[in-house]
Amino acid sequence: MLKRLFSYYRNYKIYAILSPVMMLCEVIADVAIPMLMGLILNKVSQESISSEDIGYIATVGGAMVLLALFAMFCGGYSNRLAAKASMGAGAELREELFVKIQSFSFADVDKFSTPSLITRLTTDVNNLQQSSMMVLRMAVRSPFMFLFAFIAAAIINVKLACIFLVAVPILAVVIFIIMKKAHPRFTNFHHEIDNLNTSVQENLVNMRVVKTFVREEHEKEKFKKSNDKLTDTAINAIKLVIMNMPFMQLIVYACIIAVLWFGSSIVLDTSIGHLLGTVEENTGMMAGNLMSLITYVTQILSSLMMLSMMFLQFTRARTSAQRVLEVLDTEPSLSNPDNPIFTISDGSIEFDNVCFKYEGGTVDDTLKDISFRINSGETIGIIGATGSAKSTLVQLIPRLYDVRCGSVKIGSHDVREYDLEVLRDSVAMVLQKNTLFSGTIRENMQWGKHNASDEEIIEALKNAQAWSFVSSFPGGLDTDLNQGGVNLSGGQKQRLCIARALLKKPKIIILDDSTSAVDMATDAKIMEAFGKELKNVTTIIIAQRIRSIQTADRIIVLDEGAVNAVGTHKELLENNEIYRDIYTSQQEGVMGQ
Ligand SMILES: Nc1ncnc2c1ncn2[C@@H]1O[C@H](COP(=O)(O)OP(=O)(O)OP(=O)(O)O)[C@@H](O)[C@H]1O
Ligand SMILES: [Mg+2]
Repeated sequence: MLKRLFSYYRNYKIYAILSPVMMLCEVIADVAIPMLMGLILNKVSQESISSEDIGYIATVGGAMVLLALFAMFCGGYSNRLAAKASMGAGAELREELFVKIQSFSFADVDKFSTPSLITRLTTDVNNLQQSSMMVLRMAVRSPFMFLFAFIAAAIINVKLACIFLVAVPILAVVIFIIMKKAHPRFTNFHHEIDNLNTSVQENLVNMRVVKTFVREEHEKEKFKKSNDKLTDTAINAIKLVIMNMPFMQLIVYACIIAVLWFGSSIVLDTSIGHLLGTVEENTGMMAGNLMSLITYVTQILSSLMMLSMMFLQFTRARTSAQRVLEVLDTEPSLSNPDNPIFTISDGSIEFDNVCFKYEGGTVDDTLKDISFRINSGETIGIIGATGSAKSTLVQLIPRLYDVRCGSVKIGSHDVREYDLEVLRDSVAMVLQKNTLFSGTIRENMQWGKHNASDEEIIEALKNAQAWSFVSSFPGGLDTDLNQGGVNLSGGQKQRLCIARALLKKPKIIILDDSTSAVDMATDAKIMEAFGKELKNVTTIIIAQRIRSIQTADRIIVLDEGAVNAVGTHKELLENNEIYRDIYTSQQEGVMGQ
């Protein structure tokens, strides 16, 4: 895992190497300073100070100041380099994640869920960046600080330095236990962030629905629940981490007391000093040395503290890294074939014993043994109760999902044999839940064809019966669609989506309930224009209203994921019970109005 993450530093190698080097310089300076301070204190604590001593003190003092400045420079510069390396590598990781997510099929996105993907792209990558910055600086600073300060302390007094050797294993065991327990708690914590994001995203995207159903209270309650749960899991995880701090301090103070206790005894040349055997022929410590020693104690212990914090950050980073790599390691369930076909000969479609099931969906297949053939240029209507899998069926044609068994063929080749881009360019689909994007109407239309001229756009808008209202806007094609078209009516949006699909000049066009918000007269005009302008284009129209499809060449009646009947409006009215029932109920609706 680490090796893979390191590979993102390839463009920032120089920063990633220089930062620890600078940090090392800072550590050396930091450790040298107390040594110099000890020298000064030793001089000061002598009974008489000569003018020679004053010169000595000034020189050593000057050296201390220079070293302090040097340490400051190195530390600051190291931080800057670490930030450059970490932020840069993080940005590359984020970009790769984004590109990967773009290659995901609908099924892959279903698997992770959109909010979870957002959290992985933002919070998790951020987490890794923070950890990387910490590691670049601390992974060098802590162990070297520990080592150098320990050596310096040992030079002053070996036996006192040994106090640390008792403290370190205790610390190591405690950190290990905390880390082991913290990992699953952080995994839980990140899972809860996903849940909270789901709640927020759903609410914000569907704000209008929430308000019309006066569901604010309910939504508040729902949000409160996920927020409380997140707080609980966060506290649960952090509880462990903060235990680290008091424990560390306990050990730091215990060590300082031990050094002071034994150290002062040595300095005062008391019996304990003798007992320890450190006082040998006037080699006891001087007060200055004791001061330096205490500074080293703090340095050693603060380095241990930093080390423990770093390990804890590691635990969090590990969770994030796993979540990020999980996305990167997902092979898109839809991929281009090895030797793709780049041309689609015609718009004929054939379903051959197709079955399909959503991952994590119901036990039964959503589509069961579907077989039919549509000739190139034919207009086909699909009708069926809600949930009868109409949308599911047509999504298999441009390979938004792949079949579980059987095959879907276009122009007598399996859709899986075509280059994905070519396939999706040739099959234009107006999804049931379609969206426009922020930007002008022209920009939105150019999603269909990136270099479409105004004439082409206007022609498509006319065929979709959208030109009449677009031309009435003062801005015309330059009208801005705020937040994907909140300033348009539902029917207007649907017509723009149809125009966008028409611009692709596809071989097959699929309208999934795309005129549901359009009034019947306009709907009829759209169908008429389709009949005239799209003679050679295979057209599939899913509709709730029989009127929208009754002029189709043939109509497929779907019932619970299976084909119930295929025929013309007239044939079905005569022979098919489901179709007749729908027709009668809609006639009654019309009569009743
Ligand atoms: N992404 C998904 N994951 C799991 N199950 C799904 C998914 N999308 C749809 N389903 C299920 O598949 C079945 C068929 O859904 P589908 O959307 O194809 O119906 P439909 O005929 O288009 O309905 P409607 O007329 O309401 O648009 C439903 O039971 C639905 O719950
Ligand atoms: Mg549908």
